[in-house]
Amino acid sequence: MSTLHTRWYKYRGGNLKMSSTVAVPKLKMSDGREMPALGLGTYLGFDKNAVVPSKNKQLRDVILEAIDLGYRHFDSASIYNTEDEIGEAIKMKIDEGVVTREDIFFTTKLWNTKHKREEVEASVRNALEQSGLDYIDLYLMHWPIGLNADYSFSDVDFMETWRGFEDVHKLGLVKSIGVSNFNKEQLQRLLNEGSVRPVALQIEVHPQIIQEELINFAKSENIVVVGYSPFGSLVQRYGKQFPGPKMDDPVLMEIAQKYGKTSAQVVLRWLVDRNVVPIPKTINPKRLQENINIFDFKLEQDEIEKINRFNSNTRYTEPSFWQTHPYYPFEQVKNPLPDPFRD
Ligand SMILES: NC(=O)c1ccc[n+]([C@@H]2O[C@H](COP(=O)([O-])OP(=O)(O)OC[C@H]3O[C@@H](n4cnc5c(N)ncnc54)[C@H](OP(=O)(O)O)[C@@H]3O)[C@@H](O)[C@H]2O)c1
Repeated sequence: MSTLHTRWYKYRGGNLKMSSTVAVPKLKMSDGREMPALGLGTYLGFDKNAVVPSKNKQLRDVILEAIDLGYRHFDSASIYNTEDEIGEAIKMKIDEGVVTREDIFFTTKLWNTKHKREEVEASVRNALEQSGLDYIDLYLMHWPIGLNADYSFSDVDFMETWRGFEDVHKLGLVKSIGVSNFNKEQLQRLLNEGSVRPVALQIEVHPQIIQEELINFAKSENIVVVGYSPFGSLVQRYGKQFPGPKMDDPVLMEIAQKYGKTSAQVVLRWLVDRNVVPIPKTINPKRLQENINIFDFKLEQDEIEKINRFNSNTRYTEPSFWQTHPYYPFEQVKNPLPDPFRD
């Protein structure tokens, strides 16, 4: 039996425990639909100027295991190159009778080089073909930034792109629509000028970027916030360790010990307790199980605040090579990075 399909894990302190399916709660979105309060990230990283692909159906096997554990929400994007293996695993689990299509929440995102209104429908149809699914649960504009095919800046206004989102929503190809990496002013413009409201905002949220203001604004507009890169500095990024709290941080360890959890679980629960939907990525079976076992405890307000104090507004997704674009959503930096898509 392959490791991925073993239903027994050495878990916490070497105890052998039978894995069981976790019932993940759901959050209501403003269009009446529901989103599972935890998702699985599927971005496998960027290496040698290209997105890392799944090899030998590794990601498909992770999704099969994830569905058995109770994951129902999967986060993809056309740029991640994972729509096909996610769709394949979902179809296998539907055929096995483990889930129905309605149990699953599949998110994917429009890439920046497809921002013209008419390109949105073609991109959605491509995602449907890749995944083999007949609708997408949540379609997100990955960035407000439009680019030409050669990655030079395009002058397509993100409101034009949003019209394309409204089109695919009306056609029923996508059940809900939202955005990612928009700042408050951009979100406000979408609310003022759009005819369908965004139901979700996906942004970077972890102990070093707690996003208090943007989260409060989204909440006041009944927009569900999805938090990406939830582990922040706790894990290595781009093969490097960055400054900031690690898994053995005393503040996190103290809270973790109180609840019999790990620091990783405490950080995920910190997001859940702030009504943010974490989408941790893992391809490791033990960590897949660890990351979903966060619905049997709850942090106290003072514990949430202790973690909030790690805030340093640090972003790990900061494409400063686009910072002169008129719709760049973040603060500009002094020394922008070279553009990996062009250089
Ligand atoms: N909208 C956007 O622009 C955007 C940007 C970035 C990310 N995202 C989405 O958000 C997802 C998550 O973000 P991310 O991948 O940047 O970061 P992340 O989920 O915070 O961290 C992933 C890293 O943590 C490790 N890990 C996972 N669970 C762990 C645990 N319990 N203990 C220790 N290490 C653990 C993983 O390694 P193993 O796989 O080896 O476990 C991986 O190296 C992405 O996959 C993607 O779907 C969206």
